[in-house]
Amino acid sequence: MTAADIVKKYISFFEKRGHTRIVNSPLVLANDPTTLFTSSGMQPLVPYLLGEQHPEGVRLVNVQNSFRAQDIDEIGDNRHTTFFRMLGNWSLGDYFKKEQLPWIFEFLTNKQEGLGLDPKRLYVTVFAGNDHIEKDTESIEIWKQIFQTVEIDAKVGERIFEYSVEKNWWSRSGPPDKMPAGEPGGPDSEVFYEFEQVEHDLAFGQKCHVNCDCGRFVEICNSVFMQYQKQKDGSFKNLPKQNVDFGGGLERMLLAVEDTPDVFTTNLFQPIIESIEQATNTDYKNHAKELRIIADHFTSAVFIAKDGVFPSNKEQGYILRRLIRRGLDNWYALHGTNIEPVLQVIVRQYQETDPSLAEKYEHIKDILLEEEQKYKRTRTEAQKFIEKKYKHSHPEAPAIGSQKDSIGRQGDLQNDKGATEISSDDAFILYTTHGLSPSQIKNLGYIFNDQEFAEKMKSHQDISRNASAGKFKGGLADHEEKTIMGHTATHLLHQALRDVLGDHVHQTGSNITTERVRFDFNYDQKPTDEQIKKITAIVNEKIKENLPVHFEMIETAKAKDMGAIGLFMDTYGEKSKIYFIGDYSTEFCGGPHVDFTGVLKSFTIIKQENLGQTQKRIYGKVNA
Ligand code: SER
Repeated sequence: MTAADIVKKYISFFEKRGHTRIVNSPLVLANDPTTLFTSSGMQPLVPYLLGEQHPEGVRLVNVQNSFRAQDIDEIGDNRHTTFFRMLGNWSLGDYFKKEQLPWIFEFLTNKQEGLGLDPKRLYVTVFAGNDHIEKDTESIEIWKQIFQTVEIDAKVGERIFEYSVEKNWWSRSGPPDKMPAGEPGGPDSEVFYEFEQVEHDLAFGQKCHVNCDCGRFVEICNSVFMQYQKQKDGSFKNLPKQNVDFGGGLERMLLAVEDTPDVFTTNLFQPIIESIEQATNTDYKNHAKELRIIADHFTSAVFIAKDGVFPSNKEQGYILRRLIRRGLDNWYALHGTNIEPVLQVIVRQYQETDPSLAEKYEHIKDILLEEEQKYKRTRTEAQKFIEKKYKHSHPEAPAIGSQKDSIGRQGDLQNDKGATEISSDDAFILYTTHGLSPSQIKNLGYIFNDQEFAEKMKSHQDISRNASAGKFKGGLADHEEKTIMGHTATHLLHQALRDVLGDHVHQTGSNITTERVRFDFNYDQKPTDEQIKKITAIVNEKIKENLPVHFEMIETAKAKDMGAIGLFMDTYGEKSKIYFIGDYSTEFCGGPHVDFTGVLKSFTIIKQENLGQTQKRIYGKVNA
């Protein structure tokens, strides 16, 4: 069974049950400024889930192309992909739990009409309830009856599991406390598939469970009972109608059908992986991570380019550029040359469900190849800079040999591993002026003193003592758009304060509301009017530059080396969430943040206060 076969079966299963097929919306939605990409099937349907009448009726079915930028850094394991397709069936105030759960079970297990999965491999979860919303006992009872039909005695704690809001509540912004006023959401019920061949990995805890990350259990689909709307006072009101929002990960379903835990070995990705193996003369067994990143990033880039995005330094274009360049980093590391054959295979693999890929192939190819040329030029300029620099500033050093290949490994200053040693100062220039990340510089064949580089980073970028995840969450009064903007403004303000007043200045507290930002810091003098003016100007300059804001999960030790310090460092896990604003600011932080600084429009400092000899307070305002 191919992915396209699953789509056909799913659509016809629900068409037979009175559903109308609706279109696959583009990855960039025309009228939704709240998000860069369509990242789930429900996104284009939000107005209808809120109560608007859908022209196609109350029972809908579709397959929705989706992209999750937040997963870029996860790619490389066996089950994450940034681009994926979501099967969706929708009840807009029509049927509810007692129809939805049996239908989904039937689709998953029925051999003729559905996927024919072994029911013994399926486990389900339901919402355990919280102080405001009761436990979903109805779904528990329905699941018990469903499993009984296949002679499985489904006990809670064995086959059915109850989880809190963290796992079994769905909204676009996560659990109830993170939802802004007006956002719809509700309890959900997920289905997991068990890969018996995967041994539990103790690194993920003593005992395996359905939500364990060891890979033995993989979530394949989710029925959301979209029935609540968050109110301004934080409470929940029933939506005008009770809706069902079902999302099934097509790639995950294929895993279950093939009973393989590795998405990149399924019949969808296998030919793409093979084309990369051939082009780079490597094999998946020894280079799984690189091959997965290349396959994933090029696939996403193909779909994003198809939907009208061009690589740039802004918004969707920035994500596209990042995907292509990160894919190319891995491609060059494996000595790949022409990427075109891989693009052709990607289009071939998806064209049955997405025929416009083939129609737009020339356009897609031109975009990717042009970006590759640009990236090559950046790399060549960086190499030229190094060559020139070494000839001028180290006349005694032997001349560097001419470029050898696209990876640019150079001759005469090479060490015995074939890498060229450059100073950390030069590496840092490649970082700041050529926009190459440390790993991209290394991919060019240069090595440098990591420790020294990290120190430079430290003085260049913001070192936050206090902006830990917990602190910032505590500092946020709510998660309205305006407070999220205020949050990003504090990161800019923090760095600007350090730029103007000195690196010893650091944040000691913050509180953000929709009206204003309050920011406390250590400093033993009253900042002058001139200084305040300068700080404001810097923050506004960074807003105007519309810098991208993103986070990466970085090993805590590595993040510390980079100079990102947090007050509660000792309580951090192995990895910490680090937020970057362009290359201007780097902080330990839990978020949330805006995607681009430009949305803040401008920032004004309203007043400052003296909290004591060494503590000062600034009040500011985002003018969006
Ligand atoms: N909205 C849910 C999800 O995206 C189900 O469609 O997972």
